[in-house]
Amino acid sequence: MTAATRAFAWLALLLSLIYYRSGEVIKNSILVKSPLPKGYIAGGDFGTDCKDIGSPATPEIASCEDAAFWDLHDASGKLTERRLVLGCDLGRHNWNTVMGPLRDPNPRATLWLYSESTTGAPNTASHSTGAKEKAAGLLDKIRGTVNKKSQETTKSTKEVPKPKLQQLELRNYPEGHDFHPLGLEVWPSYGGNGSYLYAVNHARARTVIEQFLLEPAEPTVATHIRTISHSWFISPNALALTSPDSFYVSNDHLFTRRLPILGKFIPIIETLLGLPFSFVAHVTLNPPSSPPSTPTIAEHTIEAPFIPFSNGVSLSPGGGEVAIASTTLNRVLFYARDKATNRLTYKTAVPVPFCPDNVHYYAPESHDDEAAKLIVAGHPHFPSVIEVTANKPGAVGQSWVLSITRRPDASEDAKPAAYDMQAPFSANEKVPVTALPKGYAVETVFQSNGTGFSTGATGLEDSLTGTFYITGLYAPQGAMVCHPHKSG
Ligand SMILES: *[C@@H]1O[C@H](CO)[C@@H](O)[C@H](O)[C@H]1NC(C)=O
Ligand SMILES: *[C@@H]1O[C@H](CO)[C@@H](O)[C@H](O)[C@H]1NC(C)=O
Repeated sequence: MTAATRAFAWLALLLSLIYYRSGEVIKNSILVKSPLPKGYIAGGDFGTDCKDIGSPATPEIASCEDAAFWDLHDASGKLTERRLVLGCDLGRHNWNTVMGPLRDPNPRATLWLYSESTTGAPNTASHSTGAKEKAAGLLDKIRGTVNKKSQETTKSTKEVPKPKLQQLELRNYPEGHDFHPLGLEVWPSYGGNGSYLYAVNHARARTVIEQFLLEPAEPTVATHIRTISHSWFISPNALALTSPDSFYVSNDHLFTRRLPILGKFIPIIETLLGLPFSFVAHVTLNPPSSPPSTPTIAEHTIEAPFIPFSNGVSLSPGGGEVAIASTTLNRVLFYARDKATNRLTYKTAVPVPFCPDNVHYYAPESHDDEAAKLIVAGHPHFPSVIEVTANKPGAVGQSWVLSITRRPDASEDAKPAAYDMQAPFSANEKVPVTALPKGYAVETVFQSNGTGFSTGATGLEDSLTGTFYITGLYAPQGAMVCHPHKSG
């Protein structure tokens, strides 16, 4: 064998191994590009109901990998308001430890607060507020009343609350420390008390987790508390809080791009082969008030090992279930959680028609696991995402968000012949109904061919208002907000 044929034989072996391991995934998210519409939002009209969150006036709001709700409860425990925290990294084209490249870790990424509430909205002390905006706000108020009036008669217009978008000041952030947020989570505030915000941070030397404090009284400031690090933080990606001081964290790869030489190809092989080397751990911290000699991490246990490319992770409203996205398996894995010990027991896997990225349970305030709905966002065509990563001119990545719910009464023979029939391009085209585990229903929430919204990574639905949010890994407008009419 010549060197060339030997190389070819290795390549053929590798490709067939990949195909053997994950043929369905290769077909669904690599070879076949689905005919998705420019934009679709369930129960609404993409063209009129969906708006960009970032704009040319806020160029830093681009490439938002994740967002999280910051829930504000009153003293009696009732959820009164929900704000959105966004993590956006304009520098992702030069620093991405998951997909590459590793060119420049220097410019710090930014956190943003987005709020649509008219009551108790964040105070307007930030730089974004000026006389001009106040005038615009006044104008909007007037328009709002006009809209309200016409709504009574025509029903075709509706009042959209005036949004507020403010950059969070990172107070006390260590000098010379990078900031490249991926997964974010915020513990709710009760009766006006502070909330811990945790953000996975792809810093240059290693990936760590940053802990901040958000205060409802000073909502545009995220005060840095500490940087959390552990030898098993190999490649943290997403977080799910189990208390103000503990969380599950996914590690997307065992072999990372930071490895010298090997880092150039081992992580790619791990990704392509769908090798089950990644894992989800549970971490319990000692509270920040502990004496200085106390270690930050009280306990670190690996709870869900051997997952191919574990990505998004979320805790169910009642705390009895954890969902983990396996990006290269095109599946969302469900685990039963022991609330006392945080032990996870594998339950089932629901196949999805894309490479799932972040997952978020809907309505955490319901505390109800039976009616739990999981929102899953992902990438239906992986090669396009790679083109976007490589900055290929004009490249966009498709976006697809769907919900997974339980149908406890569903018996096997009651299974319909097809599902997700409202969507312009149904999930049913890629994942036959027979592949869904019994008792689970899947429905498309949002779709785009990339022109309407590129590389969607997180979908969030606000149970208080019906508002839908999507963030995009490389989206030029960072994120989008939709107010679907629902009534049709
Ligand atoms: C998405 O769909 C719109 C409308 O059909 C079309 O103009 C656009 O070129 C499409 N974009 C891509 C990337 O296919
Ligand atoms: C706020 O109050 C809740 C509920 O009592 C508590 O769990 C949480 O730890 C408090 N947050 C902070 C930052 O002290």
